[in-house]
Amino acid sequence: MGLSEKDLVGLQHVPAEEINQILDIATPMKEIIKRQIRKVPTLRGRTVVTVFYEASTRTRVSFELAAKYLSADTTGITAATSSMSKGESIRDTARTIAAMGADIVVLRHPMAGAAELLAHTIKASVINAGDGAHEHPSQALLDMFTVKEKKGRLKGLRIAIIGDILHSRVARSDIWGFHRMGAEVRLAGPATLLPPGVEKMGARVYTNLEEALEGADVINILRIQLERQNRGLFPGLREYSRLFGINKERLKLAAPDALVMHPGPMNRGVEIAPEVADGIQSIINEQVTNGVAVRMALLYLLTRGGSKHEITC
Ligand code: CP
Repeated sequence: MGLSEKDLVGLQHVPAEEINQILDIATPMKEIIKRQIRKVPTLRGRTVVTVFYEASTRTRVSFELAAKYLSADTTGITAATSSMSKGESIRDTARTIAAMGADIVVLRHPMAGAAELLAHTIKASVINAGDGAHEHPSQALLDMFTVKEKKGRLKGLRIAIIGDILHSRVARSDIWGFHRMGAEVRLAGPATLLPPGVEKMGARVYTNLEEALEGADVINILRIQLERQNRGLFPGLREYSRLFGINKERLKLAAPDALVMHPGPMNRGVEIAPEVADGIQSIINEQVTNGVAVRMALLYLLTRGGSKHEITC
């Protein structure tokens, strides 16, 4: 049992059967992390290296814990602590890490396509932990796992993704993933933060927030990416919060048992009101816990390959 590709660079081309397989394997992985002693020998002798050229708390720590719980050897580098600060290219860094025996490289990079580039450069498996505004597949997988765990299914659910779609790699992976699994994906945000043509990915686009929220089963609230806003795409944070922030009143438009999600980190009081973030419908902390289980499943499956793992370069 394994994934058909050597790498996980995005969900755009991952078939529904493989998504189901990852979600199925994450369930026993979650049992392991609930134990008093969270350690199984499954990946003993394997090496996982995390390479993070952008800030991260959840993704980096959860990949490292996932590797450790499966008994892999693990280490990590960041832009500040690696030879990238001396001008080394990402390809040379990756070749160096691969030459030291890494089996899996987990990469976060500000450039869209960086993980794909690495996947074609080294024999080790590459997992995209976020590349620019392109994809963040493990986040979408943990989002799907968490929704399926709560609702028992994905097919037919109405998933409203609200906010800064333009800069969001989470949104792109969520759209590919939830749509492929048969959910109805709705997008809403300021017109300037909705990328043109995004409906071709299979999502319904709304400029009216209230319509997007109407009867939604899940509200996935995206972070306003302050570090990527240099073009004045919305008037200001207070205005954004007034027009698109999810508060208790707006939450009432969704289904009564709607789930509230956020990939984190949150701008409390901007895209999400504190009482919504901490309310009974919020499953934000469960997303974080499930991130470890889903990433354990990915590490497990990527070390058991099909024929496409015979890489040529
Ligand atoms: N959701 C997410 O990618 O969080 P981090 O940036 O903390 O990894």
